[in-house]
Amino acid sequence: MDTKWIEISKEHIDKEVLKEAGDIIKKGGLVAFPTETVYGLGGDALNPRSSQKIYEAKGRPSDNPLIVHIARLEDLPQIVSYIPESAKVLAEHFWPGPLTMIFQKSDIVPHETTGGLETVAVRFPSDVVAQEFIKEAGGFVAAPSANTSGRPSPTSGRHVYEDMQGKIEMILDGGSCEIGLESTIVDLTEEIPVILRPGYITEEMLESVLNKVNVDRTILSAASGIAPKAPGMKYRHYAPKGELVIVKGKSGKVVSYVNDKLREGHAQGRKMGVIATDETIDQYDACVRKSVGRRTDEASIARRLYEILREFDREDVEDIYAEAFDCSGMGQAIMNRLLKAAGHKIIEIS
Ligand code: TXA
Ligand code: MG
Repeated sequence: MDTKWIEISKEHIDKEVLKEAGDIIKKGGLVAFPTETVYGLGGDALNPRSSQKIYEAKGRPSDNPLIVHIARLEDLPQIVSYIPESAKVLAEHFWPGPLTMIFQKSDIVPHETTGGLETVAVRFPSDVVAQEFIKEAGGFVAAPSANTSGRPSPTSGRHVYEDMQGKIEMILDGGSCEIGLESTIVDLTEEIPVILRPGYITEEMLESVLNKVNVDRTILSAASGIAPKAPGMKYRHYAPKGELVIVKGKSGKVVSYVNDKLREGHAQGRKMGVIATDETIDQYDACVRKSVGRRTDEASIARRLYEILREFDREDVEDIYAEAFDCSGMGQAIMNRLLKAAGHKIIEIS
């Protein structure tokens, strides 16, 4: 299949292009589109065959449910059977935006879209290209991140092209994603809302508008025999091809530990890499060194992380050492993705 790759500007949205993209979805095809978090791989959420195609294009297990994207709050009642009070509060504060909520599904949402579950994940993105596209596509677009299963999520049109060329009808390239990490997922089918995946909307932000939220225990710990409630969180994810290890501890000690490892690796002829921050990057010995930004600037770290993981792939780096990041605020989301990318390999230096 020929994949059409079309650049689209947020300032001057080309309605003709979005209409063409919407028609592809209505006919059962697939279109990748930008959102404020990461690129989505869209299909008609109400068409079981479209959801099957999404799983095929991603090489993703079909028990891993998709998020249904909407572009009008008034469309929500069609796809869910009940809207709890807490969801209304969250929608009022954080929609449109990088928040996904889990509801009991209505009958029109096929099990192919929900991975066999009776619940459905719904997100109303703030990206204007995404909104216009979803409307043109009929209002309900199922979309996982537009990467091949297991690879880092795409944050630019080029990333999508790397993974999806020849597999989908069209890529809408809206440039780099503003946030760069997937949405926060909150399960509202429990008595007390539960965060299943951390993201830009933090626990603190959610608690400032709801009485209480719980956090799924598996978010920052290795799979200690407990299954995460978001099925997708159990898979090794976001992973570069090289072997990634996180090193945590006092900065000076981390640097000297990693430099020892770089020497060992180089002696064995391996291509070595480091993920650090602006403050420390120069202290590492020569290797493929990449800074995610200033340590205090969590937004820039989030925006750069997946691009950096993909750069290591392009440069065929075999061993990558990453500094750990603070776990408060959005740091929790960054650390959650980094731990998954590393398959939970973390070395703590005391
Ligand atoms: O920011 C995002 O959320 C992006 C953009 C494209 O919107 N989408 C995204 O989709 O990250 P995906 O498929 O890569 O991740 C969706 C996650 C998976 O971990 C999946 O298991 C979980 O959401 N999920 C979906 N439906 C669920 C449900 N009914 N119950 C529990 N978890 C669910
Ligand atoms: Mg994904």
